[in-house]
Amino acid sequence: MATRIFSGIQPTGTLHIGNYFGAIRNWAALQTDHDCIYCIVDYHAITIETDPVALRAASRSMALDLIACGIDPERSILFVQSSVPEHTELAWIFGCVTSYGDLSRMTQFKDKSADKKFVSAGLFTYPILQAADILLYRADGVPVGGDQVQHLELSRRIARRFNTRFGEFFPEPEPLVGKGARITSLADPTAKMSKSDGEAHYIGVMEDEGSIRKKVRSAVTDTGLAPGETMSPGVVNLFEILELSTELAGGSAVAAELRADFAAGKLMYSRLKDVVFDSLMNVLRPIQQRRSELEASGKVEEILAHGAEKARAIARDNIASVREMVGFD
Ligand code: TRP
Repeated sequence: MATRIFSGIQPTGTLHIGNYFGAIRNWAALQTDHDCIYCIVDYHAITIETDPVALRAASRSMALDLIACGIDPERSILFVQSSVPEHTELAWIFGCVTSYGDLSRMTQFKDKSADKKFVSAGLFTYPILQAADILLYRADGVPVGGDQVQHLELSRRIARRFNTRFGEFFPEPEPLVGKGARITSLADPTAKMSKSDGEAHYIGVMEDEGSIRKKVRSAVTDTGLAPGETMSPGVVNLFEILELSTELAGGSAVAAELRADFAAGKLMYSRLKDVVFDSLMNVLRPIQQRRSELEASGKVEEILAHGAEKARAIARDNIASVREMVGFD
């Protein structure tokens, strides 16, 4: 069982319910019996072009979102990556124990670089910085979505290579892939929910109720069935959202009833959508409430400064050992 947990999220400006159910809710749950460090990865964000003013605002905004979603800065360390510059120093050292061939096999790089005119070297070396994020704190558990498993595999290789070359120091971090990461786009239910596909594709955790209602009502349900499928992907997705929304409340009797209706061929999608909307808002309303209170309190800067201090104390210690092992002064 992992003892120290580390995970990171890019400051994309806003969380969507796929991020929440797929990752952040699990981050919050892990706090009860682990030592958790959560990081807003702004160094990673600049691997593609970003506006400096928007980036700073997005990092603050992500911190508000995370705390509102249950990340407790009293129990866990919450900080912005660039306030701990040791991440980049370790990334350089790790770059020297990472093979070009291994990096070239990263599928996220292939996907992200495919349609770009300018592909930065930073986008290519992104997984090295990710390994540095985790291992700077010698974390051994990393809650992530399934798409990060390959990056974690590389982090383990990097830890092994470092240990072989310079001496045993780093643990091999394991991905902790939670369930609930399967939420797909509302407008194209065959694709994973993503903010970058456009407004119609995702539901923001902080989005206003009227807008969420509209999106749920217009969710695509009639894509037809692929061979072997009994329920179209859009309907599967609505059930998924419903079940995730009611999971912590002991599950939903309504969900079971609606599934039975579906099996009997008498499910009204408008009814399903109304129930999905109500259940989802029961989860989101208190989160939205907490966020506006926190924002009004003006405390986020202070919280992040405190988090950075705690993170940096660990980072400094570990970097000092690494420097020594590598042969630096
Ligand atoms: N690459 C991760 C993502 O796209 C974000 C990330 C950066 C991360 N550093 C990390 C996740 C360290 C876990 C641990 O979601």
